[in-house]
Amino acid sequence: KKIYILNGPNLNLLGKRQPEIYGADTLADVEALCAREAVTQGLDIVFAQSNHEGEIIDLIHEARDAAQGIVINPAAYTHTSVAILDALNTFDGPVIEVHISQVHKREAFRHHSYVSMRADAVMAGFGVHGYVLAVAHMGKLLG
Ligand code: DQA
Repeated sequence: KKIYILNGPNLNLLGKRQPEIYGADTLADVEALCAREAVTQGLDIVFAQSNHEGEIIDLIHEARDAAQGIVINPAAYTHTSVAILDALNTFDGPVIEVHISQVHKREAFRHHSYVSMRADAVMAGFGVHGYVLAVAHMGKLLG
């Protein structure tokens, strides 16, 4: 079984970007952590990042045929994108939303998530370990 792990805007700068909030690990480190957990779970992964809303939507459309589950950190689009919510609503399998930071402890504009209206589970505040937990749970859901 295959899952897509999708990352939204500015996450390409993980490790350099506000490390006091998001930590020192880079997105390549996150990909390596996910790949390791995927082996444990017997899952194949496609790991991608885009700064562009439409590209994230195209990747979700691609996942409709290619994958059984989606793990997504939509980053700032979490709080703004009806279009990403609509795209996820075209996907049949489980969706897990991941936030590195504990968004509910932060600015009020981060408290609402369009994606949470579709997500089957939400991780927030576990740091990059949240991705590993999400992949492990995907293994359970799809196993
Ligand atoms: C984030 C939280 C969002 O509010 C923010 O815009 C991000 C990252 C997180 O992983 O904690 O870019 O999704």
